[in-house]
Amino acid sequence: MTALIEARGVSKRFRQHKRFPGLLGALKTLVTTEYTEVAAVSDVSFDIAAGEAVGYLGPNGAGKSTMIKMMTGILVPSAGTLSVLGRTPHQERMANARQIGVVFGQRSQLWWDLPVVDSFTLHQRIYDIPAARYADNLKRFSDLLDLTPFLDRAVRQLSLGQRMRAEIVMSLLHDPKILFLDEPTIGLDVVAKDAVRRFLAEINRERGVTIILTTHDLQDIETICPRLIMVDHSQLIFDGELGRLRAALGSARRLTLEFATDPGPLPLGTATLTSDEGLLKHYLLEREDVSLVQVLSEVGSERGLKDVALHEPDIEEVIRTFYQRRNAAAAAQ
Ligand SMILES: Nc1ncnc2c1ncn2[C@@H]1O[C@H](COP(=O)(O)OP(=O)(O)OP(=O)(O)O)[C@@H](O)[C@H]1O
Ligand SMILES: [Mg+2]
Repeated sequence: MTALIEARGVSKRFRQHKRFPGLLGALKTLVTTEYTEVAAVSDVSFDIAAGEAVGYLGPNGAGKSTMIKMMTGILVPSAGTLSVLGRTPHQERMANARQIGVVFGQRSQLWWDLPVVDSFTLHQRIYDIPAARYADNLKRFSDLLDLTPFLDRAVRQLSLGQRMRAEIVMSLLHDPKILFLDEPTIGLDVVAKDAVRRFLAEINRERGVTIILTTHDLQDIETICPRLIMVDHSQLIFDGELGRLRAALGSARRLTLEFATDPGPLPLGTATLTSDEGLLKHYLLEREDVSLVQVLSEVGSERGLKDVALHEPDIEEVIRTFYQRRNAAAAAQ
């Protein structure tokens, strides 16, 4: 299968005015011709096939938004080649725009003073969406994201969650093949987040819309994206399935034992004690071949064990462990 998006050694450097400290420095900063270069994206390569849903992940400043802006044609790469639907995004912005949808969580694309539905109508005209198709899409998406109650309200009167739902619907009205979303769930409450996630997963599954999204909320990834691209300090550090990341990091399970009376020190051979709160003791089960039954038989029946809880590592832990190990490896060099 040919890739919908092909990135080959893509880099983006920004020139920033050199800054000088202090009040005089501030004046000097204004007139300086000295620049420093910031590497926002360095030598990033990947392929994304039709129908994929990919989560683009990384700490603040890692270069996620910059990459999205290059793929949507807003920014021009400093080096490397980028192909989206067979075109170079920044060279054919108009042709590209017809086939992609874009949502920036931090910036609205709706008309602030107009009713939501007027922004949609404008969008229909600009993108030449056939009337029947437009009506169909509007009805279906509005139903799914429960937009109907506020379609006639001015955008500036909407809550953040309502506005984000409207942004997402608008980005899909022209049936784009690819949907780019930069932090689509930022600032939403749990209910709104959940609605947006389920909607995006469904659009990907049922309409085959390819999705690339950045987020700091790992639940977004877990619900929508089987594939993960991770970046750090402008570089790509992982590309693959979430399951592969879990497997590579080992799957240490967390075990909590609750006692009716404090059993005192309780050295176990099969589990590592991570914290001791007297009645509550937390362990890590690092070995996969050790069963819960083995651990419990080690504890014995005379200690007053009251309750047991076993947790599989969640996505937050997996990602945190990945970055911690990388940082530790970098520090050791
Ligand atoms: N227009 C610009 N001019 C100069 N530097 C920029 C510009 N845009 C981004 N940068 C720099 O490039 C780097 C990457 O920024 P980017 O916005 O891509 O990060 P991000 O991964 O999206 O971070 P966040 O999680 O905070 O949104 C940062 O160091 C940032 O300061
Ligand atoms: Mg960003």
